[in-house]
Parts: sequence; C-alpha cells; structure tokens
Amino acid sequence: MPHQELLREIRRLAAERDALILAHNYQRDEVQEVADICGDSLGLSQEAARTDRSVIVFCGVHFMAESAAILAPEKTVLIPRADAGCPMADMITPDGIRLMREKFPGAPVVTYVNSTAAVKAESDICCTSANAVRVVNSLAADEVILTPDRNLAMYIARHTSKRCHWWDGYCPTHDRLTVAEVQAARADYPDAVFMAHPECPPEILDIADHICSTSGMYVYARQNPARRFIVGTEAGILYRLRLENPEKEFILPTTRLICPNMKLTALEDIRAALLTMSPRITVPADIRERARLALDRMLAVPRD
Ligand code: 13P
Ligand code: SF4
Repeated sequence: MPHQELLREIRRLAAERDALILAHNYQRDEVQEVADICGDSLGLSQEAARTDRSVIVFCGVHFMAESAAILAPEKTVLIPRADAGCPMADMITPDGIRLMREKFPGAPVVTYVNSTAAVKAESDICCTSANAVRVVNSLAADEVILTPDRNLAMYIARHTSKRCHWWDGYCPTHDRLTVAEVQAARADYPDAVFMAHPECPPEILDIADHICSTSGMYVYARQNPARRFIVGTEAGILYRLRLENPEKEFILPTTRLICPNMKLTALEDIRAALLTMSPRITVPADIRERARLALDRMLAVPRD
C-alpha cells in the first residue's frame, strides 16, 4: 500500500477503534509522523492515563506499554510489535533487586522507568532520566540502591551527596558511543555543542556541553542559540529535532546509535494491531498495584 494511503488507513482505523497512537522519540520517522503524540517514556504513559480514548497503541518497547497499562488499567493497551523489548530492562529481575536489598539493608531502591513491571513492583520509587537526581535527593536515606542502569547511576552519584550503590546494567545503544567518535564529530564541526543522554558512559558525559533526557533535548535545541548540535542519543530523535528547528543542523557522531528494538515497529504493524486489536499488554493486578506505588511516589516528588 502506498505510504500516504497507509497513513490514511491507520488514522481511519484509529478513529474507528477510539484509539490514541503514541510513539517514543526513538521510533522510525513514519511512525512518529502517524502518531497522535510523540514523547519520552514516562510522558507517553501519562498521556495514556490522561486521554479519554479507550484504546492506546503504544509504539515503543515493552516496558513502556507496561507503564501505560499500570497507569491506565481500564484501557486496552496494544503494542504493535510484541518482540520489541529493551535489553537494559531485561538485565535485572525481581531476584536481583532482592539481592541488592540483602547487600545494602535499609537502603531504598530507586528504579529507572526503563524496567519491567515486576522489577518496579519490588522497588521503592521510580525515576526517569529527567528527574533522577531530584528523586534521589528527595529521599530521607543517606544511602540508595540504583537500578538497572549503571551509567545513569554514576551520573546521579556525581550530583548527590548520598552514597550510591548500583546494578551493572546498561543500554547497549548508548553504551557503545565512544569518546573518539564524539571528538571526530567535534573536529568536523568545531562550532557545534554536544548534548548527551545520561545513559551514555561517564567518559562521554565528561565531554558533553549539556546532559539531558530526550524531552530535555528538544527544549535545549530550541532555546540554545547554537546553529549546530552533536547529538548523543538514539537516531530517532533527529526526526523531530530537524522538523522543529529547520534552521539548525543536528549531527549524529556515529550511525551505531540505533536501537534495533525501537526500529522494529513499522506502519504495517500499527495497521495490523488496530485491525486485530492485538498484541495486548496486561499486567497482573498484584504486580500492577505495587509498581503503581513506585511510579506514584516518583510523580509526587516536587519539581524544582
Ligand atoms: P527517555 O525518552 O525517557 O529519555 O528514555 C530514553 C530511552 O532509552 C528509552 O528507551
Ligand atoms: Fe532500551 Fe536503550 Fe533501546 Fe531505550 S535505547 S529501549 S534503553 S536498549
């Protein structure tokens, strides 16, 4: 089916099914194009909870659709590709959390939203890349356990006086960015500013001009007077950065900044999900309630 026709067909089916299409900032360009709302992982789940529509089509990875199902249990949450997982989320299990608690008794567990519902259910509070330092500093404890991302944890540890213990997980996409790649881009574009996601390794964050979440990158690119930006996160973010800032240039330091799971969802998969109303994501009630508590505690942390 030609591209424009497929877009029209998806929009028609979405209206028929009373569905809202959400796409993460790393999705393919055409998926972001057809989506009602694009955003970061937590923002999209909050949109899922806020909408009046009864069906959510979550174009992202499994843990994101799970978060939507936790925050909007009365809605039908569809994930167009059931095989779109997140290797970092799968690097820790509930047993891993229990192991950390045994090792550091009394320390609260702060879990990045890039985690399964079962892991969130074992945690005290969640955080995102946008609010991680604020969440950790809001806790009364002097010592904290951070899971699953070691890079985000090391970033937090540099910005808090609390003693941090962390799990050794990482995002394979962000973790493979090298200092040599950033320096080569800097040599090609000496006037460019370098913004990096906190999932990048510490040696990358050391040379970044600005460190922020994906949603923070849109704000920074809009507000910063620079004409060129080197972007230290997944390639999908370029679509909207370029659309929103046509006069600015965005450079990816390497073509290896691609998350294969984020690229699985194609327009045909969205169409099929709307036609068949599957695959559907559900979270068992006991896990959902405990995971919700960890998310709600995070949402209650005051903004700066
Ligand atoms: P955010 O969009 O929340 O910054 O997350 C980055 C990420 O890696 C999502 O998979
Ligand atoms: Fe997971 Fe990294 Fe892909 Fe995000 S970019 S889904 S953290 S592997």
